[in-house]
Amino acid sequence: MADIREFIRQSAFSIVKRNNFSEDIESLLGDCMGPGSMHESIRQYLSTYGYDHYGDLDPNEPEQPDAKPGSALRLLAETLPEMTPLVDGPILDLGCSVGRTSFELSRVFKTPVLGIDLNFTMLQAAAKVLETGIFTYPKRRVGLTYERKTIKTGLMDDKNVDFWACDVLNLPFSNSVFSFGLSLNLLDCVGNPYLHLQEIERVLKPGAGAIISTPYDWNANASPVENWLGGHSQRSEAKGSSERILRSLFAKGGHSQAIPNLELIFEKENLPWTVRVHHRSYMNYSVHVMGAQKSAAPNKVEVL
Ligand SMILES: C[S@@+](CC[C@H](N)C(=O)[O-])C[C@H]1O[C@@H](n2cnc3c(N)ncnc32)[C@H](O)[C@@H]1O
Repeated sequence: MADIREFIRQSAFSIVKRNNFSEDIESLLGDCMGPGSMHESIRQYLSTYGYDHYGDLDPNEPEQPDAKPGSALRLLAETLPEMTPLVDGPILDLGCSVGRTSFELSRVFKTPVLGIDLNFTMLQAAAKVLETGIFTYPKRRVGLTYERKTIKTGLMDDKNVDFWACDVLNLPFSNSVFSFGLSLNLLDCVGNPYLHLQEIERVLKPGAGAIISTPYDWNANASPVENWLGGHSQRSEAKGSSERILRSLFAKGGHSQAIPNLELIFEKENLPWTVRVHHRSYMNYSVHVMGAQKSAAPNKVEVL
């Protein structure tokens, strides 16, 4: 091959469909496809979420006192005790990425948990944990260099867990089926955050709860500015405050488009959530968490 870089760039789509390259070929592909390529963004996602979700189970993970893995799990541990609604049926883990929170919810509640996401590579990695217990991921060092990590998680064969590829904005479920919903750090990643809240409310059973956490890191690549909840229009009454707008969208929150059956039951502010970019770069978010509950079904009017 005279110009391997050009060949690999042109063949990117068929190449990234395969995910079992040796570490050397993986590195060659990374160098040839370069920064900003699909291959690179897949590796970066796996690196970031792989580290946070499973790094705590890696005996070879060096101590990182300021950026320990497990920040999504810690968010869950800090907020689950605030949830009073009974969890007595299937759980939906929305935007589960590589799936650790789904395994954790199954461990805590011993009930079926469905993790959903739209990122196929991350779902494949989650499904491999389910089948084999092994989580393999490229952990980014710096630039285009990565270290391949293989972690024995001990999480295989959890009969209560499954992972599906589906859109949180168009959930393929009937109304009122889930007993709990988890939306961790997803609200600002979807094209229509308001629709995301509506869909959560729709699929929850009456009386069921949900935890919604977000760093409000609005980005026009994820959602058009007009769909952001706050983060713009600081001349308005809410002064562009995302917290105020989100609060107002719950039942009795006073917004004309408030979701009538979704009540706010608790809030926690400034919880840490850390996203590892590479060996020398970590983003520390300060996350706002809201606990919600779908109101019990309104009494049916008896027609005599
Ligand atoms: C910021 S990550 C958070 C991952 C995980 N919940 C956590 O806190 O570690 C957002 C996740 O949502 C997924 N996602 C974004 N938009 C989605 C959509 N419309 N439907 C399903 N998943 C989506 C992304 O692929 C990504 O895995």
